[in-house]
Amino acid sequence: MKTLLLYLTRDGQTHKIAQAIAQTIGSEQVELHDLMTLSVVDWSQYDKVIIGASIRYGHFAPQLMTFVQQYTNELNERCSAFYSVNLTARKPEKSTPETNVYTQKFLTASPWQPDEVAVFAGALRYPRYRWFDRFMIGLIMKMTGGETDKTKEVDYTQWDKVREFANTFADKKSKLLS
Ligand SMILES: Cc1cc2nc3c(=O)[nH]c(=O)nc-3n(C[C@H](O)[C@H](O)[C@H](O)COP(=O)(O)O)c2cc1C
Repeated sequence: MKTLLLYLTRDGQTHKIAQAIAQTIGSEQVELHDLMTLSVVDWSQYDKVIIGASIRYGHFAPQLMTFVQQYTNELNERCSAFYSVNLTARKPEKSTPETNVYTQKFLTASPWQPDEVAVFAGALRYPRYRWFDRFMIGLIMKMTGGETDKTKEVDYTQWDKVREFANTFADKKSKLLS
């Protein structure tokens, strides 16, 4: 059986992180899907599942909670992990599941309780944003002491942390076979 790896992304960073996780676990053991375009899930194929999602204006895409509510049993009975991606996590004191407010809020509301949770800092890519988003993110960065140069692209993701998360998850035993 394989690991089902689902991601919800707006600008590609959560997908990039999913690809790094798949590569670390071993691409042949992982099936990678965009949750936004996923239709039917054949759960009999998977004994493990990972879901990754990013934050926009304080929220995960609503499709995350819809999916979690639809498949609560399937998720809880499998060995599972969740990772969240946001810019708040560029600050070390806001980069753990306990200290990252978006992640805490999700875990409190979610009927799915993953076995492993990680928070990864995302990317800041001013030149790629629409003018409104560029303006808003610039404002937020100014208020929180971040990068304000609108010509810059900064990748804050700690890729070692991503690989460590993937390795820890890969070492976990399947719940279905035990
Ligand atoms: C329009 C917009 C709004 C964002 N809002 C937040 C936010 O409220 N809090 C935060 O920590 N990060 C915020 N971010 C940062 C994203 O979470 C970060 O860029 C992440 O890498 C996006 O991942 P994705 O490319 O997979 O969607 C925002 C980014 C954009 C472009």
